[in-house]
Amino acid sequence: MSNLKKTMEVDLNGLTLKNPIITASGTYGFGREYAELIDLNELGGIAVKGLTKEERKGNEGRRLVETPMGLINSVGLQNPGVKSFIENEIPFLRQFDLKIIANINGNTIEEYCEMARILDQEDVDSIELNISCPNVKNGGLAFGTDSEMVARVVTCVRAATGKHLIVKLSPNVTDIKPIALAAEKSGADCLSLVNTFSGMAIDIHNRKPFLKRGIGGVSGPAIKPMALKMTYDAVKSVNIPVIGMGGISTYEDAIEFILAGAHAVAIGTANFYNPEAPLTIKKGIESYMNQYNIQDINELIGNLDT
Ligand SMILES: Cc1cc2nc3c(=O)[nH]c(=O)nc-3n(C[C@H](O)[C@H](O)[C@H](O)COP(=O)(O)O)c2cc1C
Repeated sequence: MSNLKKTMEVDLNGLTLKNPIITASGTYGFGREYAELIDLNELGGIAVKGLTKEERKGNEGRRLVETPMGLINSVGLQNPGVKSFIENEIPFLRQFDLKIIANINGNTIEEYCEMARILDQEDVDSIELNISCPNVKNGGLAFGTDSEMVARVVTCVRAATGKHLIVKLSPNVTDIKPIALAAEKSGADCLSLVNTFSGMAIDIHNRKPFLKRGIGGVSGPAIKPMALKMTYDAVKSVNIPVIGMGGISTYEDAIEFILAGAHAVAIGTANFYNPEAPLTIKKGIESYMNQYNIQDINELIGNLDT
């Protein structure tokens, strides 16, 4: 084992993380509950719960269904609204040595841009654009499923803010490459993927879907192989860094994403059953680096022997 100090620092094209571990939006709130359980200073960054301009109460009825390897959720973007985030959550998170990533959502291009304009003036380190939202002005089709719409929303947000900009891609597409490329060309500094896959579960005893809206977003270990492949495809199509996520629950999973080319990884569903997952994964990456005598995590990124 080498005595040289290992470095876990990664550069996401203007956003430096002291280590590549991020907690995924919607699975970590604003960090408050987890701060009672783990030391948030250990994280590279937190992607906060999806924000909207006004407070949202979220969907009625049941919001979560367990699957054999994860969850289906239909939370409906419950959040306190961007103003409350700025007043209450940013000061709380600033107590910790981590990067704050504000995840933003809109029903129209204008809403996304307004959110970006507001956050541009605030103390956040990055804005993550969740383009899995339905575009109400375009028949409810998710922004992230059409490269032209991706280009339009990213261009508008890029013009609205000088902040580091992550575009978070939806996996509910036939081919991720043109979508990734459209986001890069329109000004994204970095991509993150994947968001949840569309799915459903039916209660056979009352013959109704479990979730009131019928469908929800599938996450957790079940989606990992598809998420890994999409991350790999996205990395191959763009020249900006990619944050990989989808079903990561062990350090081995994280290393797979890093070898596929991800500069950082986000941990989502695993937090729900193991709040220490991000820290265990970080420690596991360190021991893997020791095992293979790797001094700098950047040596591992995309270092796949194909
Ligand atoms: C309950 C729940 C809520 C989520 N809310 C958001 C959200 O507000 N914004 C967002 O971009 N992604 C949201 N996601 C998606 C996650 O950030 C992540 O992309 C996805 O769950 C895949 O990672 P995982 O398999 O590790 O959970 C949510 C996921 C879950 C399970």
